[in-house]
Amino acid sequence: VTTSALNRRRFLGRAGLLAGVGAAGGVLAACSTDAPAPPPQTVPFRSAYQAGIDTAAQDRLAFAAFDVAPGSTRADLVAMLTTWTAAAEAMTQGQPVPGSSDEQQSPPADTGEADGLAPGNLTVTVGFGPGLFDGRFGLAARRPTELAELPALPGDFLDPTRSGGDICVQACSEDPQVAFHAVRNLARLGRGTVVTRWTQLGFGRTSSTSTTQATARNLMGFKDGTRNLKVEDPGSMSRSVWVAPGDLPGSASWMAGGSYLVSRRIRMIIETWDRDVLSDQENVFGRAKASGGPLSGGDEFAAPDFHATLAGGVPAIPMDAHIRLAAPENNNGTAILRRSYSYTDGVDSRTGMLDAGLFFIAYMRSPAQFVRLQSQLGAHDALNEYIQHTSSALFACPPGVAAGNTGDYWGRALFEA
Ligand code: HEM
Repeated sequence: VTTSALNRRRFLGRAGLLAGVGAAGGVLAACSTDAPAPPPQTVPFRSAYQAGIDTAAQDRLAFAAFDVAPGSTRADLVAMLTTWTAAAEAMTQGQPVPGSSDEQQSPPADTGEADGLAPGNLTVTVGFGPGLFDGRFGLAARRPTELAELPALPGDFLDPTRSGGDICVQACSEDPQVAFHAVRNLARLGRGTVVTRWTQLGFGRTSSTSTTQATARNLMGFKDGTRNLKVEDPGSMSRSVWVAPGDLPGSASWMAGGSYLVSRRIRMIIETWDRDVLSDQENVFGRAKASGGPLSGGDEFAAPDFHATLAGGVPAIPMDAHIRLAAPENNNGTAILRRSYSYTDGVDSRTGMLDAGLFFIAYMRSPAQFVRLQSQLGAHDALNEYIQHTSSALFACPPGVAAGNTGDYWGRALFEA
């Protein structure tokens, strides 16, 4: 049975099930006949850039960082990335991982938990950490100079077991089970070649990355993403997100059309925040909580006026407000594409406090952009009283897998050029 036949059978199966339910009862029948078949909800896998960067941010995240297993070779990595590419392409198009899933005497090729679920705009994005270029795989000469461990930054409180990694996978979907399924299946296919170093689930996108999206709120209750870069603006995407050929020495030209991913698990000290009065909360960000408008006045999308003052000459947007310190106007034009998610990982057993916050993900043309912003924020941000950066990682995400070249795979230009 081909994968597309399997896929068709799967969606037909779902339609058949709905029809069956409809025949069984009046109310349900009304639901089933009114409900259209689920929309395709697929994002093209192949394009110049990897999907999952300039894709309107989906609502759910499953993220994993892997280390290459001791003894694995460059050829093992190429084989794994080839298998991963085929599996990811299938899953993003709503199909199972290629291979037989109905042979009784072997494990199914696909683990099955996404069977019958719509892809929910699933994207799978891969990146390579600085460690991959350490000499184990003959890639040292191909490391872009900028792909180096991030320097120690003010406010770091990092747990090394949740930081770094040789390879990362970011899976985003509207459906949490679909996102998890993608990461789980790549981890399974990579077993023997890579070991999972750390993982993170995220719920509730906190960044709008498209002008078509309403601004979502983070766990502090503030609209997040108002002045984010938007994918509809190719000028700023080229300026601030995509690596250009001229940025790289010839030996690292494989990274042209790629983007650097910085992840930071930022814990919020929610109990302290929740006791803070509204005016203080608003001063921390420099924005009104309800409307999202800047404290210098206007609605959510009004430009902040960093020179505006209140009676007595006090700045309307405080000097240590998050948006003042992070804004491009105050950082020589530095901008990044934020693509973060809220997370909660239960209770900190030492304190009884919630371990919840923001799994910050940002894409940029150079890691120096993040370093510049976090140097400011980590040292001076009023938000620091309520947050702790507990993990950090940097990955170089290569360009997309070429359309019309079935032999292409993630990172081919790195391994084969
Ligand atoms: C838990 C941590 C954080 C929270 C809760 C948070 C929240 C927010 C909020 C509510 C805004 C205003 C709305 C908007 O324009 O998106 C904002 C803006 C921004 N944040 Fe954060 N943020 C956090 C961490 C960071 C970090 C680590 C960076 C980068 C190093 C960063 C960079 C920015 C930038 C560049 C802006 C836009 C500023 C502007 O141009 O007005 N944020 N953030």
